[in-house]
Amino acid sequence: MEEDTKKEAIVNKGASFEQIGPGESERRKWLIACGATGGVAAVAAGIPFAVSMAPSEKAKSAGAPVEVDISTIPPGGVKTVEWRGKPVWIVRRTPEMLESLDSLDSKLADPKSVRKEYPTPDYAKNTHRSIKPEFFVTVGICSHLGCSPVSKFVKGPGSDMGNDWPGGFLCPCHGSTFDIAGRVYANKPAPDNLEVPRHMYLTDSKIIIGRDENGEA
Ligand code: FES
Repeated sequence: MEEDTKKEAIVNKGASFEQIGPGESERRKWLIACGATGGVAAVAAGIPFAVSMAPSEKAKSAGAPVEVDISTIPPGGVKTVEWRGKPVWIVRRTPEMLESLDSLDSKLADPKSVRKEYPTPDYAKNTHRSIKPEFFVTVGICSHLGCSPVSKFVKGPGSDMGNDWPGGFLCPCHGSTFDIAGRVYANKPAPDNLEVPRHMYLTDSKIIIGRDENGEA
């Protein structure tokens, strides 16, 4: 548990993306870890050398589900944890952040999360893509070439995303944009929504990532 705690980065409410999301060095680290040029897609596609390697005990341990205390995340804040070498964000959304979600379908590539590249668990195949609307759990890696998006939670004229921006995420590499539920906008380089990993609530204040009622991911 202490190990897990060390991996967590708590970010506070009201900060700009650069303050609340992974920093530049962290993004680079993720890119390097993913191979920088489509590494995530390659892993998802099952590159033979990776498949044929017997996992070491350390690797097995690194793939274990991760328990996360979500009680310390302030409204509008994000906690980042590492799971299987990937950043997983837990976003605590306010009612104001959620209010745009029902009106965006026509602008999105996959509003119902039915595409299969990064299958969305059934309990997240809803407008808010989560078990409870308040907490959004997602892998912080773009479905295009594996960059780490940045959060753009400020809405409208106060944002640098245009007057009608409802809040969400921007991938700085090639400009893909995602709503506050990680659904990708249409006609962007990213082909898919942000991945929702298997997860479940252990208590009201604790979730586990990498496992749900159907077993481990
Ligand atoms: S890696 Fe995100 S848009 Fe290209």
